[in-house]
Amino acid sequence: MLEVFATPYVEMKRRSGGLKCILKYVTVVVVGICIFYMIKSSFDSEECDLTKIHVNSEHTKRAMEYAEQVLQAKCRTSFVKKEMSRLFAEKYNKHTSPFVRKNVNTEKAIFKYEPPFGFHKLSERLQDLLDLLPNDDLQEDIKLKSCKRCVVVGNGGVLHGLELGYALNQFDVVIRLNNAPVQGYTDHVGNKTTIRMTYPEGAPLSEHEYYPNGLFVAVLFKSVDLYWIQAMVKNESLPLWVRWFFWKQVAEKIPVMPKQFRILNPIIIKETALDILQYPEPRPRFWGWDQNVPTIGITAVVLATHLCDEVSLAGFGYDLSQPNTQLHYYDNLCMAAMHKQTMHNVTTETKFLQKLIKEGVVKDLSGGIYCDFCRKTSW
Ligand SMILES: *[C@@H]1O[C@H](CO)[C@@H](O)[C@H](O)[C@H]1NC(C)=O
Ligand SMILES: *[C@@H]1O[C@H](CO)[C@@H](O)[C@H](O)[C@H]1NC(C)=O
Ligand SMILES: *[C@@H]1O[C@H](CO)[C@@H](O)[C@H](O)[C@H]1NC(C)=O
Repeated sequence: MLEVFATPYVEMKRRSGGLKCILKYVTVVVVGICIFYMIKSSFDSEECDLTKIHVNSEHTKRAMEYAEQVLQAKCRTSFVKKEMSRLFAEKYNKHTSPFVRKNVNTEKAIFKYEPPFGFHKLSERLQDLLDLLPNDDLQEDIKLKSCKRCVVVGNGGVLHGLELGYALNQFDVVIRLNNAPVQGYTDHVGNKTTIRMTYPEGAPLSEHEYYPNGLFVAVLFKSVDLYWIQAMVKNESLPLWVRWFFWKQVAEKIPVMPKQFRILNPIIIKETALDILQYPEPRPRFWGWDQNVPTIGITAVVLATHLCDEVSLAGFGYDLSQPNTQLHYYDNLCMAAMHKQTMHNVTTETKFLQKLIKEGVVKDLSGGIYCDFCRKTSW
């Protein structure tokens, strides 16, 4: 951007002669104004004016009542697994374990693909890490419950103003994604975190987002992510060369005990992408992905079906037709920013979630995917 302006400026300076000083002054001002407007317009398309967003109080009330109703209903043991098997038949294996187990080397399927769909050629390093981790799925106290209600809290701006925090805290398992903050947003998102699920670049940098009893579920998107998680579990510093492979600063310490770490079973990503969403098979590529990688949100929903008896969602739904709405509940990025990503197919994912909600398999507490509680006459 700056180079574009630099050339005429240099040209003018060279030719100016007697009027040199004045021209120089004018040029600097003009260039300054142009740069200001370019920067401003590029920010205008990224930032959303949050003061313009308000949620109608009637809508908030209905959302809160709906969440209460979902919580009051009887918890049906194994409900969500049965329903997923009904909808997707052989594409969904209800016996898939949610996390990687110590006996991973007996499961050939895990080593067929490279991350994120499998751990091809990573068997030894993986075994080394698994020796440090427990074999349990959930925390002792939660495991004992005969029927578990889970909620996957997405990061969507749709959560803003719905005041679902109190309701979300009453679920047995609250799954949060990437660096979604709790501090400062508890009215909207509650303050309970049973599981935080993220890839390395998504892990919160603030130690206040980790809890003594919460699980940290690592999603490994690339081979080098295994080196990162190993350093985090062992509480060692990250090797220098490993840092080059991340597209942003990654957490250097995850302040939880080794027994709180889990590694997402890559079969869940493979099953979500290749079987359920029917994305193309991974091909060898030098760089990038084929838009066949499911988002962490969808992956968490499928994980929840393997971990829980009943599943609800909140904070899901990207309404791409509303470019000026808030993308996340915690920052001021606009929905329009979502058009720039090329890794995920949001259309396919939204259809999948709509299907789950319309079929009654999962509940959408914030109504961003399919709203059961919105008054049908409102349009
Ligand atoms: C959540 O907030 C409630 C009420 O403010 C508090 O009692 C509880 O300790 C908090 N829980 C966590 C995990 O911070
Ligand atoms: C990790 O190591 C640091 C010292 O380097 C220590 O203060 C901290 O308590 C350790 N964290 C855990 C979770 O063991
Ligand atoms: C997303 O998937 C749908 C099929 O469900 C396909 O028609 C569409 O072209 C895909 N979008 C992109 C951007 O690849």
